[in-house]
Amino acid sequence: MQTKISNQAIVDLSKKTNGSSDTAAFAQHVAEGLSQNPKKLSSRYFYDATGSKLFQKIMDLPEYYLTRCEFEVLNDNRQAMANHFAQDSFFHLIDLGAGDALKTKILLKALQNQQSDFDYVPIDISGDAISHLHQNLDFEFPNIKSNAVIGEYFQALEWLQQNKSERKVVLFLGSNIGNFDATESLSFLHSIRSYLTAGDKLLLGVDLRKDPYTILKAYDDASGVTAAFNLNLLKRINEELGGNFDLYKFRHYPLYNPQEGVMKSFLLSERKQEVYLEALDRTFSFEAWEAIHTENSYKYSLPQVEEMGRRCGFKIETVFQDKRQFFADVLFSVD
Ligand code: AVJ
Repeated sequence: MQTKISNQAIVDLSKKTNGSSDTAAFAQHVAEGLSQNPKKLSSRYFYDATGSKLFQKIMDLPEYYLTRCEFEVLNDNRQAMANHFAQDSFFHLIDLGAGDALKTKILLKALQNQQSDFDYVPIDISGDAISHLHQNLDFEFPNIKSNAVIGEYFQALEWLQQNKSERKVVLFLGSNIGNFDATESLSFLHSIRSYLTAGDKLLLGVDLRKDPYTILKAYDDASGVTAAFNLNLLKRINEELGGNFDLYKFRHYPLYNPQEGVMKSFLLSERKQEVYLEALDRTFSFEAWEAIHTENSYKYSLPQVEEMGRRCGFKIETVFQDKRQFFADVLFSVD
C-alpha cells in the first residue's frame, strides 16, 4: 500500500498481508523470552509511541553524551560527508532506524546546499516516528524526494533490493548497531553488504570505549528517563497483551562490562511475584531479585570497527570523530 503526497511517499511493511498487525509476533516473543532461564526480552520492542517519545527525551539528557557527540561529528564534517556521498551521480540515501532524523537533517541540508542528486529513504520500525517524520519532511524539505518505509531492518533491505536500484549510501547512525552482539552485527553488516555494489557506501555510527562511569551514567540518568524507557516495555506488554505487570515492583538495573564493552540493561523483580498475560492465557513467575535482560548496548574500539567491517567486505574510507573521541561515524566503502 502506497500513498503519494507531493514529493513524499510512505510504504508500510509492518502489517502482514492478511491485515493482522504484529501483535501475534510480539506475544510469541514475550512467551519465549519469559519462559527462558535467564529471562530476556528484546530491546527492539521498546519503540511503541510512548517508547519512541521516551527515547527522544533520552537524547536530550545531559548524561546521554552519544547524541550530542554524533551531532558534533556530523555538524563539523557535513560538507566533507556530502562530498563523499555525492560523487557526481544520483544515489539513494538510505537511513536505517531514522527515528526523527534530526541528525540526518544536517546531512540533508549539506546535500541540498551542494545540489546533490539523490532521494531520501528513511526506514524505522516505529510507524509513529515515520509518520511524524513524513509530515515534517514535507514541511522542511519539500524539494527532497523521499520514500519513507515502516518496517524491520531485514524486511526493509529486501524491499530496497527490489525497489531502489541506483547507487546506495546507507546510514546506520546513532550507535544502533550497539544493540547487536558480535554475531548479530557481523550478520547484519554482511546482509547490508550483500545489497551493495562498487561505489556504494555505509556510514556507521559507533559509540567508542571510554571511562566506564561515563558510559554507565548515560544509561542510569538522574531524572529516571532511562528507567521509564526500560519499564515501558512492561507497560507495552500490559497494554498490548493484557498483562498485569505492576511497574512499581520492577526496577531498572544497568550494568557495564568493560572487558566485553557492553552496557547491559535489566528489569529486576523486587519481590517474588506472578504476572498474568491475557493474550497468552499464561502466568509467569518471578523470584525475588530475578532479572529480565532487556538490552545490550555495545561499545567499540576503532580497530574492532575496522576488523568488523573488513570481515563483511567493507573498507574504511574515513573516520569522523568528535573532539573528545567519544563517538565515531565511520565511512565505509565496498571492498
Ligand atoms: C538507540 C540503541 C542507540 O543503546 O544507546 C538509550 C538505546 N537504551 N538508552 C543505546 C538506549 C537506553 C540506544 N540506541
